[in-house]
Order: sequence, then structure tokens, then C-alpha cells
Amino acid sequence: MAESMKGLHRTHRCTEITNANIGEEVTVMGWVQKSRNKGGIIFVDLRDRSGILQIIFEEADVKAEGFAKAEKLRSEFVIAVVGKVVARTGAVNENLATGDIEIRATKLTVLSEAQTPPFPIEEGSKTKEELRLKYRYLDLRRPDIQRNLILRSQAATIVRTFLAEEGFLEIETPILQKSTPEGARDYLVPSRVHPGNFYALPQSPQLFKQLLMCSGYDRYFQIAKCFRDEDLRADRQPEFTQIDMELSFVDIDDVIDVNEKLLQKLFKETIGIDVALPIQRMTWQEAMDRYGSDKPDTRFGMELKNVSDVVKGCGFGVFTGALENGGSVRGINVKGQGAMPRKKIDALVAFAKDFGAKGLAYLCIGEDGSYKSSFSKFMTEEELKNLATSMGAENGDLLLFAADVDKVVYDVLGNLRLEIAKNLELIDQDKYNFLWVTEFPLFEWSEEQKRFVAMHHPFTMPMEEDLELLETAPEKARAKAYDIVLNGTEIGGGSVRIYQNDVQEKMFELLGFTKEEAYERFGFLLNAFKYGVPPHAGLAYGLDRLIMLMAKEESIRDVIAFPKIKDASCLMTEAPDVVDEKQLEELEIALVLKKKEQE
Ligand code: AMO
Ligand code: AMP
Repeated sequence: MAESMKGLHRTHRCTEITNANIGEEVTVMGWVQKSRNKGGIIFVDLRDRSGILQIIFEEADVKAEGFAKAEKLRSEFVIAVVGKVVARTGAVNENLATGDIEIRATKLTVLSEAQTPPFPIEEGSKTKEELRLKYRYLDLRRPDIQRNLILRSQAATIVRTFLAEEGFLEIETPILQKSTPEGARDYLVPSRVHPGNFYALPQSPQLFKQLLMCSGYDRYFQIAKCFRDEDLRADRQPEFTQIDMELSFVDIDDVIDVNEKLLQKLFKETIGIDVALPIQRMTWQEAMDRYGSDKPDTRFGMELKNVSDVVKGCGFGVFTGALENGGSVRGINVKGQGAMPRKKIDALVAFAKDFGAKGLAYLCIGEDGSYKSSFSKFMTEEELKNLATSMGAENGDLLLFAADVDKVVYDVLGNLRLEIAKNLELIDQDKYNFLWVTEFPLFEWSEEQKRFVAMHHPFTMPMEEDLELLETAPEKARAKAYDIVLNGTEIGGGSVRIYQNDVQEKMFELLGFTKEEAYERFGFLLNAFKYGVPPHAGLAYGLDRLIMLMAKEESIRDVIAFPKIKDASCLMTEAPDVVDEKQLEELEIALVLKKKEQE
């Protein structure tokens, strides 16, 4: 039976009570974590968002009626307890913040009863994620998830305060927007008033924040919800949150400067980590050459080496063939793994093939300096030796090589490097390695669309020294774009923007838009540029990813209150769902669902 709160006022959260409160009367409220009846004395662990507190019920203190109620307490009942703080009579519990005190209850109020939950509410749950997400409101009671969401809230507060102090204004931008695809697929919202027309949900506040710069707000920020209909992974959700900012009258260094200070403050004040400034910077080309990735994990070595020159004239057709096709041959040295069993090497070859490799050549060097290799029969002893030397190999090392066009070689070895480091536990989990990656290519060639697409987005300024390349060799042009990477995850990205109409028009042209199309889609921006526009630049962090790394979680789902699963559905509410016929009628929408092809 649910009792009333009348006359009760919570005085403390569970773990706010300490030794200093001994002798005081307190009122605490929360959920029953556990209740044990030891005959004549009942121990209850009471839980709220701060943690756990032990309550003792004895008939002498709570009277017969209170004791009878206490006997009926079960897990997840919500109760209010009035009682006296005393030093622990039993053993001190060092695992609890409140381990050396307990409450002797004088009054018990059962605010609500609870059915047995479908899984235990406990730290480090072993329950399958699907079940947890179906009952997310229960899962959210678990201390580890609560800690993550508390951290997230603290981080947002620190960011807001810091940016406000730095002169940034928090301004909201619309959620219902015109569709201006920026890369990912849009989520569309049908308009009732304009049948057949659609809004798009923002993929980011990009264009509006640039317009705010045109309007003179000079430093903007927003903790903004963004929506992208793309394939989901552990670090991708269809809706996610950005810490988004834009600054006027600045260049790259100004943006980096204020963001380094922000990161330093944020990591210190939330998880006590010192971020050493300045953060290392690396060009995109260097990141690709050394790590095979534009978001390198620099917590360990095993860097890529280009051995194209060394194998140039060798007899191994796989290598020379790749070079003749304009590709390269690169390798990694897995130190001390020369005796890796064949089965494990085969697994690495299979892994490489998943990333588009046609094969993976290996050279195992024995402790005695002997060679075992998948290509030794194609090379002389001398050539093998040169190759090993160029890789800095010592006895007992394992060398792995990929030969292909650069893009494939980078992708294969970059991912292999991470996989091997994970398998061999080479990564120091206590390290926080930040890195700015700069000078990204302006364009990427899209095989699918047979055209250039912007690597960052179409509003990114080319590097001044590469402006001429827009006419002659756009694929070689570099952008004034930068990503901030933490431990191999891209936590944020941004760029200096184009603010000259002619450059922006040229950019659209290279991206395959006619002038008319460009004006139809982005006219409001191009027109705004005609009325006086300050040079501007900005950046956005993925807040979810940032918190995931701070909380040392594997997935952003663990730092989002109500996340979606891989197919973009919500297991708890069962969204997306069909809607009433009437709703569709109002929107003048008739459904013609294509039958899924028989597989
Ligand atoms: P970008 O597309 O790089 O830049 O996004 C910025 C950051 O947002 C995070 N992020 C995501 N997080 C979770 N789920 C997703 N689906 C997802 N997609 C992106 C990443 C990424 O670094 N408007 C520009 C920023 C700018 O130029 O100022 C933008 O959106 O951590
Ligand atoms: P093959 O002559 O095809 O049997 O290949 C000999 C060795 O070269 C095998 O270990 C293959 O896995 C490897 N190999 C094949 N293609 C490539 C490639 N593109 N890059 C690196 N190694 C390769």
C-alpha cells in the first residue's frame, strides 16, 4: 500500500550522511537494494542516486507496526525512513561511502511497492543489453549508468560555464529545417500545412551557426541534438549531441587555443586528468603514413613503414604489381611475435581481407634469425634481409605487409594495427592521448556517386596555398580542417569556413552542383555572404563520444539515457511505429510500401 509523504522531508541523500552526523535525526528516501531479516533485527540497504546506506530496524525503535512493515520490504520498494545516525555496530564496510555509519530507523513509510524486476539492479550488470534497454527505466537505476549520466551533466555544466566566460553566447537553432544534405542521410518530417513538403532534422547546426556569424554574434555555442540516418556502430547513434561552436575573426590557431583550454578544464574538473598543452598536432598525410588512420591511436607504436622502394625490383609479383598500379607496399612490425602460430596469422589474414586486402604477406623471424615467410620463395635471401632491416626488425619479430592502392593499404594496416594491439593488450588503458589532425584533403572521390564529395563539408576553406589547385588538381587540395582525436576516436571536428562567395560557388561547382542547384539549396547562405561576412571558423564535439571515453565505456549507448539499438529502433517505446490512418490523411500521405525482396 502506497503511503503518503505528508509531514516527511528528505534531509539528506544516502551518502551525504557521514560520521559528522552521528547522533542526529535524519530522513532519507530511496529504493530498497536488499533486505535481510536476521530475526528480531532487519537490515536494509537503501539506495538513491548518491549510493547506498544501511538502515537497521528493531522493534524497540520502530514499534510493532513499523517492524511489521519492515518485514514485508522487498527489493525496489520505495521507502522513507526517519532515524538516528549511529556508528556501525557490526563490521565497517569499506566498499560503501557510508560504511562506518548506519541509521537506526524510528519510522518507516512505504511510498510504493514494487514487483520483482526482470533483472537485478546492480553495478556491472551481466544482463543482456536487449533486456536492459527494454526496461531502460530500471537499467538507469544501476549505479554505473547513474555515474555516467551524472558525469555527462557535470561535463555539460563545465562546458557551458567555460564558454560563457570566454564570451560565447548560447543560441538555439531550428530542429525543423530545410533539407540540405551534408553527408549523411536526412531524417524527414512531413509538413501538414504544405502537403508533399518535408522538413529535415538537422545533421548539425552548421549553416545556422555560420549565419549567426554573418549576423555579428561573433562567438556562438550550443549543446545541440543532431540527427543522421546512417548505419549505427558502437560510437554512432541516429540522434546524438554535439557541443557546437563557431567564432568570428579567427584562424585555426584561435579555435585550437580556446578548445585546448576547454579540454584541459573539462578533463581536470570531471575525472582529474591533466591534459598537457599544447596538444600534439599531425597532418592528415602523416597520420595516414604512420598509423594508416585519420584518427590514430597514439597510445602504442607499431607504426606503418613504406617499403615500396625496398621491394621495387624484387621477384614477388604481388608487391611489384601493386607498385606498377600506382599503389604502395607497407608493413608493420609486431615486436616479439615471430613465433605466432600459423592459425593466428591466418586469422590476421582473414581480418585484413575484411578490410579489402587481397592478401597479407608475412615474414616471421625466428629467435635464431631464420625466416619463415609466405613469399620467401619469390625473393632472394638478400632481398628478404633488406626488407627486414628496413622494417627495423630484430630476431623474434613478425612482419606483416600489404600491397595495394594506398587507400586499401592504409585501411588494412591501420585496422590490423589496432586489432593486434587489442589482442596483445598493448594499450595502456590509463592514458589519454589527444591529437589534432590537420590539413585534411578538401575532397574525397566517391566511387558510388562518381564525383567529388567534401571530406569535411562543402563550407570548408581550402588552404590558401592550395587555392590554385581548385582549377588544376582539386584532388590534391588540402582543407583548413581539423579533427580532435582522443585514444583513436574522433571526438570532434571543424574547419575554417569559406566566406567568399566566389570560392563557395567554385566549391559547389566542383561538388557537381550547377549554380542554380547551389542557389536552390544553399541560396540563403550564398545571399548572406553578399551583405558583409566576417571570416569565421568553428568546431563541434560529439558529446556522447567524449563522455564515453571519460567514463571508459565501450559504447555511447552507456552514456545516453535512452539510446537506440543498431536498427535505429527504441526497444522500450518501440519507436519507430506505424501511425493512425487519420494522421496520414492530415498529411495527405498515402503509403506505398515496397515489398522486401525475397532473399
Ligand atoms: P562532424 O560531422 O565531424 O562535424 O561531427 C562532429 C562530431 O560529432 C560526432 N558525431 C557523432 N556522434 C555520435 N553519433 C553520430 N552518428 C555522430 N556523427 C558525428 C563526432 C564528430 O567528430 N558541423 C560540423 C562541425 C563543424 O565543422 O564545426 C560537424 O557536424 O564526434
Ligand atoms: P599468392 O602468391 O597469391 O599465394 O600470395 C602469396 C602471399 O602473398 C600470401 O601470403 C598472400 O596472402 C600474400 N598476398 C596476396 N596479395 C597480397 C597483397 N595485395 N598484399 C599483401 N600480401 C598479399
